[in-house]
Amino acid sequence: MLSREENELITRVGPGTAMGETLRRYWMPALLSSAIPAPDAPPVRVRLLGEDLVAFRDTNGKVGLLDEYCPHRLASLFLGRNEECGLRCVYHGWKFDIEGNCSDMPNEPAESRFKEKIHLQAYPTAEIAGVIWAYMGPSDKKPAPPAMEWLRGAANQYFVSTTHEFCNYVQAIEGGIDTVHSSFLHNNDLSNVKHLKRVDTAPRLEVERTNYGFRYASIRNAGEQGNYVRIYQFVLPFHQFRSHRVDYAAGDGSGEQVPLLKGHMWVPMDDENTMIFNWMFAADPARPLTSEFILKSETSAGRGPNGESGIKRHQTRENDWLIDRELQRAKTFTGIRGLNTQDLAVQESMGRIVPRWREHLGSTDKAIIAMRRLLIEATEDVAEGRDPKGSNPEHYRGIRAADAMLPKETPWQDAAKDLLVALV
Ligand code: FES
Ligand SMILES: [Fe+2]
Repeated sequence: MLSREENELITRVGPGTAMGETLRRYWMPALLSSAIPAPDAPPVRVRLLGEDLVAFRDTNGKVGLLDEYCPHRLASLFLGRNEECGLRCVYHGWKFDIEGNCSDMPNEPAESRFKEKIHLQAYPTAEIAGVIWAYMGPSDKKPAPPAMEWLRGAANQYFVSTTHEFCNYVQAIEGGIDTVHSSFLHNNDLSNVKHLKRVDTAPRLEVERTNYGFRYASIRNAGEQGNYVRIYQFVLPFHQFRSHRVDYAAGDGSGEQVPLLKGHMWVPMDDENTMIFNWMFAADPARPLTSEFILKSETSAGRGPNGESGIKRHQTRENDWLIDRELQRAKTFTGIRGLNTQDLAVQESMGRIVPRWREHLGSTDKAIIAMRRLLIEATEDVAEGRDPKGSNPEHYRGIRAADAMLPKETPWQDAAKDLLVALV
């Protein structure tokens, strides 16, 4: 439970808010590289931290992220012409480069120096692992670029897609770090009582704070086999890392289960909308992702075959996420198709911003409580002149999530020690 004031504090992200200024101290995913695939490709709109922006790739392949509205009379530069190293407004022809300089002002006399006085807000970008990252904070506080392990793979080792979620980013994160719900929300076969996560539906949670956020284990008693332990990582302000064992390399005929690292980044578009970046990473370069696996995995999550399709969701609040009551009665816990759509449905069902002062948190909500506390502390760090946790890439570059059957007698920190280290 949070007070109304604390709830306001962590959920409001616009310019000038405490959380907004805190989030502006991190590199943030803004869009997929594939949204602006080639030099001079059409510009796209980006909504980030309550700001309307436009992204474009110039003739040299460099990415610009600018205020969407032309400083002349505020026409949208989304309509602009992307030509010869600049984005030109279609209303009166003013042209801007990726740094926001006005490079041409054809409706003023040739001798006019007016254009030198005009500058459009432009944010620095970095393009890493198919994602265009933006930094929207003060330039003297800009951290080194993000350095999660999955950003260091070859192109056939990672895949990233996006999903527009129609609610605040904090409740989206809370869904992502809540490992307990998988026994319920994601139980897609009511008849299969032997499913690993159903062995013990009230796992023990252990949260351990770190200098980037926290790691936490959900420990399920799996009888004689030991403990089934899932260890997630949370890197401030909105990164989740988790691990699965899957057969994605089945194409090689081995049929062997190999670890697949996955996670989400819940990026606040504004107070009431979130762009989720869903990533997966095949850490072993000898076992890259196959296109068949990507298609299968994205489809079962409820997304289309490529990142773009995630933006156009068919199951939304307006149609009750297409809940199928017959399916719910006979086969699956929710009756909602698509694993990630099940998450979106419950999170969006709470309303755009959860009134957290009405909650009743229990023993399995530990990670959620810890995450909220960290967000509040991050705003305090920034207000008091410190760098917020998770902004220094050296703190998290070597971490990894894990998912394993572990012996009961050894603490998970020791038993999973080697599994928690990034190898790439
Ligand atoms: S509004 Fe853009 S050039 Fe006039
Ligand atoms: Fe989920």
